[in-house]
Amino acid sequence: MSYTVPKLKDFSPAALDKAVAEFLSALDTESVGVQIETERKAFRDRWQGRKNGLLTQVNDRWLKTAPTDAKRDVGQRVNVLKSRVAETIEKLRPSVSATAVVKGLSLRAEVGQPTAYGDSSIDISLPGIRRPIGAEHPIIRTMNEIIAVFRNLGYSVAEGPVIETDYHNFESLNFPPNHPARDTQDTLFLANQESKPARERLLLRTHTSPVQIRTMEKLKPPLRILIPGKVHRNDPPDASHSPMFHQVEGLAVDTNITFGDLKGTLDHAMKALFGSDVKTSFRPSFFPFTEPSAEMFVSCFICGGSGKRRTDPCRPCKQTGWIEILGCGMVDPNVFEFVKRNGYDPEKVSGFAFGMGVDRIAMLKYGLDDLQLFFQGDVRFLEQFG
Ligand code: PHE
Repeated sequence: MSYTVPKLKDFSPAALDKAVAEFLSALDTESVGVQIETERKAFRDRWQGRKNGLLTQVNDRWLKTAPTDAKRDVGQRVNVLKSRVAETIEKLRPSVSATAVVKGLSLRAEVGQPTAYGDSSIDISLPGIRRPIGAEHPIIRTMNEIIAVFRNLGYSVAEGPVIETDYHNFESLNFPPNHPARDTQDTLFLANQESKPARERLLLRTHTSPVQIRTMEKLKPPLRILIPGKVHRNDPPDASHSPMFHQVEGLAVDTNITFGDLKGTLDHAMKALFGSDVKTSFRPSFFPFTEPSAEMFVSCFICGGSGKRRTDPCRPCKQTGWIEILGCGMVDPNVFEFVKRNGYDPEKVSGFAFGMGVDRIAMLKYGLDDLQLFFQGDVRFLEQFG
């Protein structure tokens, strides 16, 4: 620590170079071994201190006293010295890990960059920053569970567009134009389609059934597919309705498929999904694209079919002991007519189809009473499925 800033008489470039070299060599020598906070502060004061630091002395002794014609040269060199001092001090700041090693058990650590609060230290005793990894959405998870059950029966997955043609959503599924059956599915149509022929007009698909036709247009029988996806209907949102919801559809086509195959397949699937105790019940219904058609109920897996939970009425099954799960039926021969040229001759093949609402099944599985919880994106809700 013997270096002092000399007064200069000779301002020639050679003399300046020598003075600068001595200054820098002293800077390097003195910076070696500076480690702990107090040493760094002393180093900073000695070199950068405003009142009598060595840089200030350089300013006073070299720059201020320099003859006018040397000022520019001296000024440039002083600037170099300033940035070299700053760099050296910067390098002396410890990284977090370096401090941890040096200070051992100390809970305070310093980081290289000042924080937004203008303080150069952080408190490592504070909890770390949590990075949530997220989880599968309960609806997607339910879809995947349904798919897994049918995968084991040899079904593959097929998908189709959410924006559909009138032809695929209705006409080819045996809903003729203007047929009242169309009114059962409150449809959201795309605007400005009037110039197109009726069957080409676009709408948001109201069910996953159009993918039955789309798949039969592409693949020849036999066929066993499962169709998961989003569907839309013009229903205002409430605890049990949403303009967007999810379905999983199934379709099996082969020679000699019977209603017995339909019942056996679905009974097995419901036991796999809801537990081996559940029973299934099929009640007559109507869909334009299946004949005969049925609604399938499972015995209530909440109350065990009694309609009661202890002394209270069972709400999920409305005290009936049965819960409606899906619509199903044998593929109507009129549907096969639309894909007859791809091998679906209604005289030769038969098949069954079914479609279920995933959102409702997920609500039942997780004991929820408000469908909207699925779509509000509240992390406190979603976190529970992690
Ligand atoms: N697509 C029907 C609906 O959304 C359900 C269904 C699918 C019925 C397949 C029979 C066969 O209501």
